[in-house]
Amino acid sequence: CLVTNCNRPNVNTGILCVLFSESDIISTVEFNSTGELLATGDKGGRVVVFQREQESKNQPHRRGEYNVYSTFQSHEPEFDYLKSLEIEEKINKIRWLPQQNAAYFLLSTNDKTVKLWKISERDKRPEGYNLKDEDGRIRDPTTITALRVPVLRPMDLMVEATPRRVFSNAHTYHINSISVNSDYETFMSTDDLRINLWNLEITNRSFNIVDIKPVNMEELTEVITAAEFHPHQCNTFVYSSSKGSIRLCDMRASALCDNHSKFFEEPEDPSNRSFFSEIISSISDVKFSHSGRYLMTRDYLTVKVWDLNMESKPLETYQVHDYLRSKLCSLYENDCIFDKFECVWNGSDSVIMTGSYNNFFRMFDRNTKRDVTLEASRENSKPRAILKPRKVCVGGKCRKDEISVDSLDFSKKILHTAWHPYENIIAVAATNNLYIFQDKVN
Ligand SMILES: *[C@@H]1O[C@H](CO)[C@@H](O)[C@H](O)[C@H]1NC(C)=O
Ligand SMILES: *[C@@H]1O[C@H](CO)[C@@H](O)[C@H](O)[C@H]1NC(C)=O
Ligand SMILES: *[C@@H]1O[C@H](CO)[C@@H](O)[C@H](O)[C@H]1NC(C)=O
Ligand SMILES: *[C@@H]1O[C@H](CO)[C@@H](O)[C@H](O)[C@H]1NC(C)=O
Ligand SMILES: *[C@@H]1O[C@H](CO)[C@@H](O)[C@H](O)[C@H]1NC(C)=O
Repeated sequence: CLVTNCNRPNVNTGILCVLFSESDIISTVEFNSTGELLATGDKGGRVVVFQREQESKNQPHRRGEYNVYSTFQSHEPEFDYLKSLEIEEKINKIRWLPQQNAAYFLLSTNDKTVKLWKISERDKRPEGYNLKDEDGRIRDPTTITALRVPVLRPMDLMVEATPRRVFSNAHTYHINSISVNSDYETFMSTDDLRINLWNLEITNRSFNIVDIKPVNMEELTEVITAAEFHPHQCNTFVYSSSKGSIRLCDMRASALCDNHSKFFEEPEDPSNRSFFSEIISSISDVKFSHSGRYLMTRDYLTVKVWDLNMESKPLETYQVHDYLRSKLCSLYENDCIFDKFECVWNGSDSVIMTGSYNNFFRMFDRNTKRDVTLEASRENSKPRAILKPRKVCVGGKCRKDEISVDSLDFSKKILHTAWHPYENIIAVAATNNLYIFQDKVN
């Protein structure tokens, strides 16, 4: 499902032009834990950090606007000469670390390497070096006749990003998740077959805590698709699989968590069995609720909420786009069936949000059981515009404000979204555009 639509096709050659560079496609979105900062990563290996504008009496309507704070190149394309493989620079995940001093720290990862970045502000510049001049050029030693004491002079605020640590050479397969432990000393990185545990201070050593690689790769039937630490219990984590199951592991039980302590799986409804069953049951994202009591998983057609105390079936199942059930064949042919949608909780765990096609995204209110389909588009991203619920109709006649399943644009998909930790502000990545929507002020 590559996006190559263009409103200006080249008539002479018949080749569609590409509206934006593919490297601009946003591949991850993440608020920091107070929601004041928002980071995005893209296919081109860049990280953009947005900062929320402070409330101001003169411009109350600007409250909550997010402006670019820092942009930096986190990862570069690389080549693995041993395996003759290209390693993409695409940022797969970003995770913020808690703030400990004036600087901010985040982890970013591509398929192979996790990096720890420090983002800091500078508004003073040292001047009056002895051996170099203000532009950094080395001074002719014969002209140095007196010793100077360098001084700090104010300058325009500059935000710098510096790589502090590089955690590499620990993954043979592609990293799909990183998760910071609630002890804030360790984090884990997860690839298709293994999970490694790192100390944030130590880059030359990691511990393998899960390994599902069979001795004979031909016996491989399942891969790990996502993993996350429990928000409060530092010994507990979960990982999800391509077979639709979730395993909860306790690191206190053994060093290598090859024996899960809980196993969550819903047996398939035999009446719904089809060639696509296994593909659509693959879990693309797993998230603990803020409270730590529930788990949420996303598969191709649904989002499920699980109670940690009930392994046999989910507590709640929400249909994201059940109208696609009859279209699985064409979604398989155009590869969309392998799209990996993420899911997020709102700050109080009462609402969940996840993406769909046609730049639609869905919200489910767990208390009222109401759900809504919204659209991220340029029209409704004008300031003060109100998001209008959208409706997809199946077969027969559509009402004027409805859209038919057959006219959905499958190249426009919302895979990555984020919810502010305690306000109704959401960030939605639609290909190369980032939309930030928030509740009306007042
Ligand atoms: C999130 O970012 C804001 C910066 O505007 C900062 O004040 C806050 O401490 C950050 N929170 C954490 C937990 O890092
Ligand atoms: C990792 O690096 C540290 C400091 O450079 C060194 O003391 C330690 O022996 C190294 N450990 C391994 C496993 O290479
Ligand atoms: C794994 O756990 C099960 C049940 O909890 C237990 O019966 C089994 O002996 C364990 N296996 C290993 C290798 O620890
Ligand atoms: C089986 O399919 C129907 C729609 O065709 C759907 O409503 C139902 O939730 C499916 N059952 C399961 C267990 O997925
Ligand atoms: C979660 O969503 C509900 C419903 O929109 C809202 O009332 C509540 O304030 C939200 N919680 C947070 C922390 O954003």
